[in-house]
Amino acid sequence: MKIVMIGRGIIGSAVADLLSSEHEVIRASRSGGDIPLDALSVESIAAFYRKLGKFDAMIIAIGGGRIYVPFWELDPQDYLDAYLGRVMSQINLVRLGLPHISDGGAFILSSGLMSKAPLPGFTAISSSNGAIEKFVLGAAQDMPRGVRINCVSATNVKETFETYLPDVDLSNTTVQPVATVAAAYKIALFSSVSGQDFDTRDYGNDRG
Ligand SMILES: NC(=O)c1ccc[n+]([C@@H]2O[C@H](COP(=O)([O-])OP(=O)(O)OC[C@H]3O[C@@H](n4cnc5c(N)ncnc54)[C@H](OP(=O)(O)O)[C@@H]3O)[C@@H](O)[C@H]2O)c1
Repeated sequence: MKIVMIGRGIIGSAVADLLSSEHEVIRASRSGGDIPLDALSVESIAAFYRKLGKFDAMIIAIGGGRIYVPFWELDPQDYLDAYLGRVMSQINLVRLGLPHISDGGAFILSSGLMSKAPLPGFTAISSSNGAIEKFVLGAAQDMPRGVRINCVSATNVKETFETYLPDVDLSNTTVQPVATVAAAYKIALFSSVSGQDFDTRDYGNDRG
């Protein structure tokens, strides 16, 4: 299969590495990869698809948004930035990618634990994650040619907190190693369902 991995961060790299022994994996993000892409720009997305050609599946693991700020201190632009970076970017990738994906192909988007079990200070993220899950549910009803669409909700990824947020106390929330999260993306990719949110807590609750 020709699989496109959008996002080359902690989750995107782990998913791409997991799939690349059995499939052709094309990697993309703003700073490089096989084909550069800024998912915030419809012009960049259109140029990306012109270069990419036909593909069988796309996994998107990009994000953004201010965190550890109470909701009343977030200004309207903070909410918009989270929505644009997490929701509109993924919607536009699916909208513009539809003519290029094979019959029976699959889109896997990223939501996250913060729409289900949020930590304080994550409202911009939790509200955008909810929108992603409902976009997936709605779009699945329209999807032509047997194309499936699902999303994955990762928990707090151990490697992310070790690398970027080592002082955060995670004793009261779920933490998983990125390998468990990547395995859940693979399960979502090859599942026959559509319109679903795959919660990685269903695929192991270990701290690695
Ligand atoms: N890690 C966690 O603990 C965790 C938990 C739950 C949910 N999630 C969600 O899972 C997704 C991926 O997480 P992650 O931890 O892998 O993130 P990450 O390590 O921060 O990586 C994000 C990747 O997305 C790319 N990117 C960002 N904006 C982009 C854009 N406009 N166009 C193209 N590429 C873009 C970045 O590369 P460039 O800067 O080169 O573009 C980077 O490769 C996010 O939505 C995140 O919220 C993560």
